[in-house]
Amino acid sequence: MAGHIGKSIIPSLRRLCGRRYFSNQPRTVTLIPGDGIGPEISVAVQKIFDAAKVPVTWESVDVTPELGPDGRTRIPPAAVESMNKNKIGLKGPLATPIGKGHMSLNLALRKEFNLYANVRPCKSIEGYKTPYEDVDLVTIRENTEGEYSGIEHKIVDGVVQSIKLITEEASTRVAEFAFEYARANKRNTVTAVHKANIMRMSDGLFLRCCRTAAEKYRDIKFTEVYLDTVCLNMVQDPTQFDVLVMPNLYGDILSDLCAGLIGGLGLTPSGNIGADGVAIFESVHGTAPDIAGQDKANPTALLLSAVMMIRHMELRQHADKIENAALNVIREGKVLTGDLGGSSSCSAYTQAICDRIVQGD
Ligand code: NAI
Repeated sequence: MAGHIGKSIIPSLRRLCGRRYFSNQPRTVTLIPGDGIGPEISVAVQKIFDAAKVPVTWESVDVTPELGPDGRTRIPPAAVESMNKNKIGLKGPLATPIGKGHMSLNLALRKEFNLYANVRPCKSIEGYKTPYEDVDLVTIRENTEGEYSGIEHKIVDGVVQSIKLITEEASTRVAEFAFEYARANKRNTVTAVHKANIMRMSDGLFLRCCRTAAEKYRDIKFTEVYLDTVCLNMVQDPTQFDVLVMPNLYGDILSDLCAGLIGGLGLTPSGNIGADGVAIFESVHGTAPDIAGQDKANPTALLLSAVMMIRHMELRQHADKIENAALNVIREGKVLTGDLGGSSSCSAYTQAICDRIVQGD
């Protein structure tokens, strides 16, 4: 295959979820197109999947919150049923109203499906130049608790308190996932990122769980680094890192920083792994309201998330075909969206990838 990129930038998660899929069976995937540019980039992914003849059918659902019988907003039951039935989903960006008493819908989905680990591979894309070369790391973020527990209250006027919840159960689960991931993807080192020098009890517990997990995975090297030190070292030389595991908020920040090293959120895929065999793959950028509806969006992040998804479903050949086509289009640099320094539309970029797939290039 011309321009074959060798080792995939998007590793497999399948063995970590305890589910097996079989390549010849058509499977139904729940699709949450999302808001803003979400519908445009979802259509792009579907078009590319059609060109590559990927044996999946899409079940599109709307997750606009509705009022439940208890008077609280909830994810529509039809969307929940679809995910519970299909177990696998692809999600575009969702708008989160700020400070209106709404829970973030992304957070609601994580809670609903117990999506405890967020995995983001960040690998340099050949032909897309950034100040950093040869980046090849994975951030694994605890996705269910920490600073995102939503336990906040006012003590007196002018004083509020927000609780960071860390449990042994969730910390152990994500730590063991990180080691399993490292083993399954032939990675050498797991680094725990923490601030146990300041948050002695909460981060202290997280770190202890990582150390205990490390004892069970002696074939994988284990290191521990303070969050601030990681940030410093990361921008100096990201090639020194391999798999990083961390509590929720640190993961939110550090994973975006790492995406920046390889070219930004428009190029970064992600997968959310749940406890009951559910997995939701998603682009990590937002709804890009400034360019929504203008055919300017870059669909790569959602496409690479969809590639991660079909690798998870054991559709390896289809995944390789699509990934190679997309990365070859980027490497060639002729048809690129605005965020990648080009002037092509989302549809022209999508068509260029489809053409490569059809040509077997
Ligand atoms: P954003 O990621 O939507 O936009 C930041 C900048 O990046 C904008 O200039 C936008 O045009 C550009 N951009 C983002 N994705 C792009 C793509 N695929 N192609 C080309 N350009 C792209 O972040 P912002 O503006 O902070 O958030 C907008 C909305 O998105 C908010 O409601 C926020 O809550 C939501 N959001 C949702 C996320 C999710 O569902 N995972 C993640 C982040 C934000």
